[in-house]
Amino acid sequence: MTLAVAVAHPNIALAKYWGKRDKGRNVPSVPSLSVTLAGMSTTTRVELAERDSLVLNGRESDGRPAERAFALLELLWLEAGKSGARPRASVSSRNDFPTAAGLASSASAFAALAVAADRALATALPTERLSSLARRISASSGRSLYGGFVELAAGEPESEFLPARPVAPADYWDLRLVVAVTSEGAKDVGSTEGMNLTTETSPLYGGWLAAAPAIFERIKRAVLDRDIEALGPAVEASALTMHATALSACPGILYWNGTTVDVMHAVRRMRQGGLPAYFTMDAGPHVKVVTLASHAEQVALALRAIPGVLRTIMAQPGGGAHVLEGPQSEPTP
Ligand code: DP6
Repeated sequence: MTLAVAVAHPNIALAKYWGKRDKGRNVPSVPSLSVTLAGMSTTTRVELAERDSLVLNGRESDGRPAERAFALLELLWLEAGKSGARPRASVSSRNDFPTAAGLASSASAFAALAVAADRALATALPTERLSSLARRISASSGRSLYGGFVELAAGEPESEFLPARPVAPADYWDLRLVVAVTSEGAKDVGSTEGMNLTTETSPLYGGWLAAAPAIFERIKRAVLDRDIEALGPAVEASALTMHATALSACPGILYWNGTTVDVMHAVRRMRQGGLPAYFTMDAGPHVKVVTLASHAEQVALALRAIPGVLRTIMAQPGGGAHVLEGPQSEPTP
């Protein structure tokens, strides 16, 4: 039986993607820049089979997750120009980090699936093609194909080929992201739904489109310069501007809980006390605090002392998606 196994890591956006220029092709309307994280992984196994089936964290899954997973396999098959019907596959995927940790598990899931399916189907596509196809299913997953600091441009309407691109490798800068977990539940409004509602109804969305490219440029420059004092304020500006648009959607989307706000204030107090600590939040109530390795333990300790913070997770830049096991295949010409 043809079987391939691949691993990928989640990523956290320092410059946020929020909003699509082309929904059908899943083209982002703003540029984003993320850090791929070490230590947390999704491992995905693709085995050619009689019929398509999906198991997520040990549970049979259908509906939207299965539709998205097998849509990715279709895209790989078409992209490689293979003739005939796509072989069916049994896919199973497991995260070694809690899905409720607020770390985008879809990013690592589709990145691992792209790499494992490419090997199992013998489509032998280059990484940038896999990144572009994973991006079509979930844009943040296009970034998890690569390790370290990774950018994803805003595409043109109708962009077909739009891969993420590496900006700097994982060992370029010893940043830490300390996740303050503030709730155990799954989020109410997923990121796709949240950004679509924002695009359609927020009166502030135009302001986000106008502001995001310059914030992205500040973040990219600060990463390349390894300058935390330039990076931090721009990271907070990206998250706060994104959340301002979500808050002003109709009905307003409030991803934060009370602890989220307490942590944001505490992070700013840490800075007044001389700690280089800056917050960012995604489509959920957890706060990710960006700091330097030399201060990370102190930041984590201070975060755990805030009532409502359930625990912290320490993350650092890590590598890209890769095959762990699978048949050898020849590159597609
Ligand atoms: C807030 O990549 O999950 O995490 O393309 O619709 O699947 P789809 O959205 P997704 O959105 C991620 C949004 C974010 C910011 C980011 O990761 O850039």
